[in-house]
Amino acid sequence: MEYRRKVAICGSGGLGSYLARAILETGEWELVILSRNPQSSPTQGGVKVKQVDYSSVDSLYHVLKRQQVDTVISVIPDAEVQLNIIDACLMARVRRFVPAEFETSPDQRPLYGPSDKMTVLVRLDEVRAQLESSVFSCGLFMETFAPGGWANSGSYNYGWNDGTFLVDLRNKRAYLPLDGEHTLNTVVCLTSAVDVARFVAASLSLRSWPTEMKMFGDRLRLGELLEIAQHVRVREFSVKYTTEEEIEFKILRTADWASQRILQAMRSILGHEYDVGQRYLNAKFPDIRAINLEDFLRRCWKPSTR
Ligand SMILES: NC(=O)c1ccc[n+]([C@@H]2O[C@H](COP(=O)([O-])OP(=O)(O)OC[C@H]3O[C@@H](n4cnc5c(N)ncnc54)[C@H](OP(=O)(O)O)[C@@H]3O)[C@@H](O)[C@H]2O)c1
Repeated sequence: MEYRRKVAICGSGGLGSYLARAILETGEWELVILSRNPQSSPTQGGVKVKQVDYSSVDSLYHVLKRQQVDTVISVIPDAEVQLNIIDACLMARVRRFVPAEFETSPDQRPLYGPSDKMTVLVRLDEVRAQLESSVFSCGLFMETFAPGGWANSGSYNYGWNDGTFLVDLRNKRAYLPLDGEHTLNTVVCLTSAVDVARFVAASLSLRSWPTEMKMFGDRLRLGELLEIAQHVRVREFSVKYTTEEEIEFKILRTADWASQRILQAMRSILGHEYDVGQRYLNAKFPDIRAINLEDFLRRCWKPSTR
């Protein structure tokens, strides 16, 4: 069967721009970017940017239909918006949809996990016969530890991820959650967003998609993460610790949005949600050599001089 050859990315910033670059690099797909904002100059090597109103399923449908889109990738972490996009995909007979996940594995999440993400996944399950979809799970973005953190990648919703989460390489500090045995043995998987985007772009050519595709560039205990950061900066970090009990206590008492997000991410780490545990996509696409954390950090940090 002949498929259409066009991909739409919903959301121009943050991971959206990484995905756009990687998809263009395959040379196999046409691309259109949907955005809330008009963009005067074409971005990403002349890619079309279409302004859309995510509150109108009808207008989304018309854009997807007119553009003859095969696959829609969402990087918008908002359930209401994503449910509208899914409805529009069904109306426009889009073949595939990727929800804004790109982090922990749904398998590993507790039932009280982020309700926005769960709502979208439940809907995707309901419509699976008409709309194929897959969750891309990759653990933490390595860019979390680059200067300025993931916020520096143009992210709209991740201002809290500013280069100080867990290990702060600029200030040579760390703030790490201890497990039940009071050790730093909790495992996290890490992938650079550049590699996530390359794996997603390569997956567009797979004939059928499983409901989840996992990948990672590195799989480390928190203690190893700290050691690597110190090794790259050639300095001992000043380290503070927190415990599961302290995190739970603070989650109930912290009104500040950024602190809440940090505490919730730490709770998820201790709950092993970032241990994706499987390298499905790394095995499928061995030519994509995902970078490990030490090499990634060496690209963005020099040994500290003070
Ligand atoms: N694994 C990790 O460590 C990690 C870290 C951060 C994020 N993530 C995941 O990566 C994905 C993308 O994150 P991101 O930081 O790149 O996203 P983001 O910057 O917050 O949003 C991406 C784009 O989506 C559009 N957008 C954002 N919020 C919107 C809203 N409420 N309504 C309509 N459009 C909206 C914006 O594009 P326009 O301005 O063009 O409309 C924005 O540039 C998410 O699924 C997130 O969970 C993972």
